[in-house]
Amino acid sequence: PGSAPLASESGLVVPVGRGDGCPFDPPAGVERVRREQPVARVTLWDGSSCWMVTRHQDVRAVLGDPRFSADATRPGFPFLTAGGREIVANNPTFLRMDDPEHARLRRMLTADFMVKKVEAMRPEVQRIADELLDRMTDGRSAADLVAEFALPLPSLVICLLLGVPYEDHEFFQQRSGILLSLRSRPEDIRTAQQELHAYLVRLAGSKRERPDDAIVSRLVARGELDDDEIASMGRLLLVAGHETTANMTALSTLALLRNPGQMARLRNDPSLIKGAVEELLRYLTIVHNGLPRIATEDVTLGGVTIRAGEGVLCTLNSANRDDEVFPGGDALDVGRDARRHVAFGFGVHQCLGQPLARVELQIALETLLRRLPDLRLDVAFEEIRFRHDMGVYGVYALPVAW
Ligand code: HEM
Repeated sequence: PGSAPLASESGLVVPVGRGDGCPFDPPAGVERVRREQPVARVTLWDGSSCWMVTRHQDVRAVLGDPRFSADATRPGFPFLTAGGREIVANNPTFLRMDDPEHARLRRMLTADFMVKKVEAMRPEVQRIADELLDRMTDGRSAADLVAEFALPLPSLVICLLLGVPYEDHEFFQQRSGILLSLRSRPEDIRTAQQELHAYLVRLAGSKRERPDDAIVSRLVARGELDDDEIASMGRLLLVAGHETTANMTALSTLALLRNPGQMARLRNDPSLIKGAVEELLRYLTIVHNGLPRIATEDVTLGGVTIRAGEGVLCTLNSANRDDEVFPGGDALDVGRDARRHVAFGFGVHQCLGQPLARVELQIALETLLRRLPDLRLDVAFEEIRFRHDMGVYGVYALPVAW
């Protein structure tokens, strides 16, 4: 399935997922809207309406402006699905709170995700990447890259950081899959969320008995949060910390395999890796459905007035293809300076885990290209199943051979 139709008799309908064209591109209609009607009134799945912002400058303006709230309990907040509404109604995390509450909670984690702290983890991440590839290639010449490399790498890392036992990965990966699926029924979302929450409440309890020096244990020791609040934070980190990087790793590998000239450039000059990761983040924009906000005051943007109480969706994938900022942006160019991309969002909610995601992606892709010089797809491109129905885009499996 591709995206929902963009144009309808009632006006513009928000596309969910990608278009039916190139699976790396935003839906074609979104590009047209950016050119013709950059701040557009659109209809959501439930018939309500909100604004869709598609230009790079407008997306940054909304996400950087405190008059736009991320508090999903405000009436009129735009949700992309009924399940999305359920997640927030049930148990919000600081992703959907405003300052000062958001800042108070986020501040408890900033030291753990600082560039310096995360850079020091490089040897550990490299060791994990090498061990996974040793196992994947041992006596074999083909495997599913998602199951054997792209997913376990960030899962193992976030488990280490949080102090979550990796043996439980099937349990939390299955639940986070339900939370991220745009197709999940609200009741299934509620159950998955409750199970994950109960698991993390138990984990916090066990760290009180047997402390270690990982994040959950340190939050317990700090004594400022109750176990419920720690569990909500842990849930946000656990879900955000493995699904995103896993999908970026697999989708980036596929994008490079489909652009052999770019892949060869990167292989021949590994010093390009940092820039290439930024370009892949821009080009693929895996958090591909609009980031939701709600205006708390009237704001004029792109020639229209957004009234207090009206919702806004900031479409990162369109902003990241905006020609004004990224000329020729529909092409993947590993030598491009893509640092202004908004794949990690912008403003106070800009991705907390981005230094970690960068280190993981740089190591994963560099190691893969270096160790498997004749890496190739093991199925026809047309057979690959893309995650059109998930809040984080990617592929379900990536059969490769070497
Ligand atoms: C927030 C993308 C990896 C933790 C965000 C947001 C985006 C994003 C777009 C902003 C959401 C909004 O403003 O509504 C990504 C991408 C990743 C990635 C593309 C990988 C390629 C990670 C990792 C972690 C993480 C590895 C953690 C370990 C978070 C957290 C927030 C967040 C905690 C909420 C920040 C806040 O509300 O202040 N991420 N992320 N992310 N991300 Fe990431």
